[in-house]
Amino acid sequence: MKKEIHAEASSRLIFYLGDERLLQMKQFIQHGDVSTYDHCLLVAYYSFLWMRKLHIRCSEDELIRGALLHDYYLYDWHEKEKWHRMHGFRHPGFALSNAQRDFELSEKEKEIIRKHMWPLTIIPPTCREAWIVNSADTFISLMETIASRKRFGKMKEYWVHRPLRAMYDQSAKELDQFV
Ligand SMILES: [Fe+2]
Ligand SMILES: [Fe+2]
Repeated sequence: MKKEIHAEASSRLIFYLGDERLLQMKQFIQHGDVSTYDHCLLVAYYSFLWMRKLHIRCSEDELIRGALLHDYYLYDWHEKEKWHRMHGFRHPGFALSNAQRDFELSEKEKEIIRKHMWPLTIIPPTCREAWIVNSADTFISLMETIASRKRFGKMKEYWVHRPLRAMYDQSAKELDQFV
């Protein structure tokens, strides 16, 4: 069962892997050596996994789309620009306005992006999908950050690199079928 859920999470996500708008996030680093693109993939992956494992009823497509776009702010927050200050508080707003410009968003997808940094955003999320993404984001950000230290290498391999590899491998296999 566990394997099936992992496979389902990967196969739901690879559908989005070639999207050029999302691929813009590949040029920015989120934490450690993980790009914002891979970070969003991981957040979507764990959100889906936990939703399935905990049998939480919610809108699966909106959960995935909101998770993939939650950090669509499209800049390098490590650069010391004046407008990058307070990144933690402000980037959900930047991500939301970029996402609204480039995609058609549902109310739940907007809520997921807007509230993913709660409690920094003060007002708590108002839908399950946003709670799930908020938790998955907190968890995976911690993994990407603390597991960057050498002695946590195995942890990073397990939580970060293994699922990413699974998604990229599965996507390559599916592409091969069309060639
Ligand atoms: Fe974020
Ligand atoms: Fe994030």
